[in-house]
Amino acid sequence: MRVFAPGRVNLIGEHTDYSGGLVLPMAVDLGTTIDGVRGGDRVVLTSDALDGTVDIPIEIVDVATVEPSWGRYVAGVVAEVRPAVGFSGHVTTTLPVGAGLSSSAALEVAVALAIGFGGDRGGLAAACQRAEQRASGVPCGRMDQLASACGIDGHALLIDCSTFAIEPVPMPDDVDIVVVHSGEERTLEGSPYAERRAQLEAGDPRRTRHVRTENERVRAFAGAIAAHDLARAGQLMHESHVSLRDDFEVSTPTLDALVDRLVATPGVHGARLTGAGFGGCVVALTARDALHEGWRVRATEGARVSGG
Ligand code: GLA
Repeated sequence: MRVFAPGRVNLIGEHTDYSGGLVLPMAVDLGTTIDGVRGGDRVVLTSDALDGTVDIPIEIVDVATVEPSWGRYVAGVVAEVRPAVGFSGHVTTTLPVGAGLSSSAALEVAVALAIGFGGDRGGLAAACQRAEQRASGVPCGRMDQLASACGIDGHALLIDCSTFAIEPVPMPDDVDIVVVHSGEERTLEGSPYAERRAQLEAGDPRRTRHVRTENERVRAFAGAIAAHDLARAGQLMHESHVSLRDDFEVSTPTLDALVDRLVATPGVHGARLTGAGFGGCVVALTARDALHEGWRVRATEGARVSGG
């Protein structure tokens, strides 16, 4: 069988998912594929991109000490899904690892489907979010797993994280969504992600101001896209970046410089850091063919299984 799970890029709505706010990601045509067969009582995976062989029993309990370390994401999923039989296969990916395009969520969603997760797509995303938290110890939200599981071809997803209701937002066909890597790699384990979440929950005024204004920007952005007001959409993306930089403090000088350079380029409507921050990628909304760097991504459908 073959399973493909896409990565995601978040257009706007950053660090809002874990407080029940609004996000607007889309699943992208870069992702992770697993080819393999079910059977036995172990999950055994090798990868093109990551070292070592993951070999874990289907009754795995202690997820956080699995080696090689990418196996912790696999083990987290196995511990959540509790498959009746094992699986052996090979993982390939077109997603840059550690770039903020949710390579870990794509791996989790692909593994869950490969080992036979039987629930609906919302349940799949929830199980994979728990797997990510078990594997990494980072109290992440559910945006990445929802985008990978529930993507819709040609659409971004307006997700209300208080209910996880998804409203498809058609993407105009006269724009490009371009993702540019800052060159700074990051892992959420090594970042102040958990600290930011704790500060928000403690009511830090600047952190809560970011979330309040970001939720307003997500609504306004969805409206601007629907009205084909691309200048306004781009401006909202830039305001989001400034808020992430100054109020939520998850940007870096390298990300700021990249955003500044991109928004000064003719044909770029707007740009902002995407994902958790602390490095990783910038996403830009541009006129067709305005940028000749990075990855031009298309909104794609969520994870799919073939050859069952
Ligand atoms: C990471 C997390 C998501 C979300 C973003 C920031 O991608 O996994 O849940 O919190 O950061 O918006």
